Amino acid sequence: MPDVLCTLALPEPFTRMVSAVASIRVLGRLPSALELRDELRSRPVDVLCPQAADRIDAALLDAGLPRLRGVSLFGVGYDNVDVAAATMRGIAIGNTPGVLTDATADLTMALLLAVARRVAEGDQVMRRGSFPGVQPDFMLGTELGGAVLGIVGFGRIGQAVARRARGFGMRLGVWTVPAGPVPDDLAGSIRTFPSLADLLAEADVVTLHTPLTAETRHLIGEAELRRMKPTAILVNTSRGAVIDEPALVRALEEGWIAGAGLDVYELEPRLAPGLAECRNSVLTPHLGSATVATRAAMAELVAVNALAMLAGELPPHCVNPAVRMRAAFPSAGPSPADAPGGREGAAG
Ligand code: 8YV
Repeated sequence: MPDVLCTLALPEPFTRMVSAVASIRVLGRLPSALELRDELRSRPVDVLCPQAADRIDAALLDAGLPRLRGVSLFGVGYDNVDVAAATMRGIAIGNTPGVLTDATADLTMALLLAVARRVAEGDQVMRRGSFPGVQPDFMLGTELGGAVLGIVGFGRIGQAVARRARGFGMRLGVWTVPAGPVPDDLAGSIRTFPSLADLLAEADVVTLHTPLTAETRHLIGEAELRRMKPTAILVNTSRGAVIDEPALVRALEEGWIAGAGLDVYELEPRLAPGLAECRNSVLTPHLGSATVATRAAMAELVAVNALAMLAGELPPHCVNPAVRMRAAFPSAGPSPADAPGGREGAAG
């Protein structure tokens, strides 16, 4: 039987779907890079199912060879993977797009509302017993109706946020690279900005929905934060490193912007120094996809991708579709890729 290694246990239906054709081992903790490498060397596997915190670089992939044929990610983001290195080694990378769009867009709205209407701060006031009774100027917040929502990145999640924000009467602005088509149902409601700087200057709320790449790392730094309105709110449910966090801490401390709602952090699970003390920030622990239904749907896609990899086929949700997958390791049993003239491993 082929072998599958999960660093953390995945929700059902993963085990139900995969255990019939492979033996599944679960580490049960997030290993260091060195531990995961040693693990793959000492107990080789056909498919690895890591978490977003596991770094899948060339050294790790090499440790998995000659047996490793696929990495099936539990998530849509793949900034933790050296995709070029995987492709060169004939290792397929699968991810879970689509199924977490709504959950992540919902959490984006939750953070936006929490900061705009000071929900977390108000909760603290009540628990401390410091509510003085309702007063005309007590804990005033920001009105969302009529406010401009600046959406940075307009893929599935950015668009789902746009649909929700339209329901709140917000005006929608978008900046994205590359500029993609606007879906028909949003076409009349979106204003596309020519530059990020223009969008930042006009938005009352800025929300980030770009993947983390070399181009988007620290996309929002000191210059960008200083360009935002002092009344503006920044929301991030994409990846922490899209923001230069030390610059954000200064922006919050010194009032360059009014507040921030964050679900993701550059040094996850740690916070940048000073961020926890910023009372005008609402912080959640990477909960974007964290609903029971979404996590089950993600686990199903991880299984579907892994099953395809085990059968020597490209996963249906493949990050590197140009990969020429490695042949199965002999002990994993025959697969179409082993046949004469099959897709013999193209390990670079
Ligand atoms: C995490 C995510 O992967 O999909 C992504 O890119 O960041 C999340 O869904 C998930 O929380 C796994 O633990």
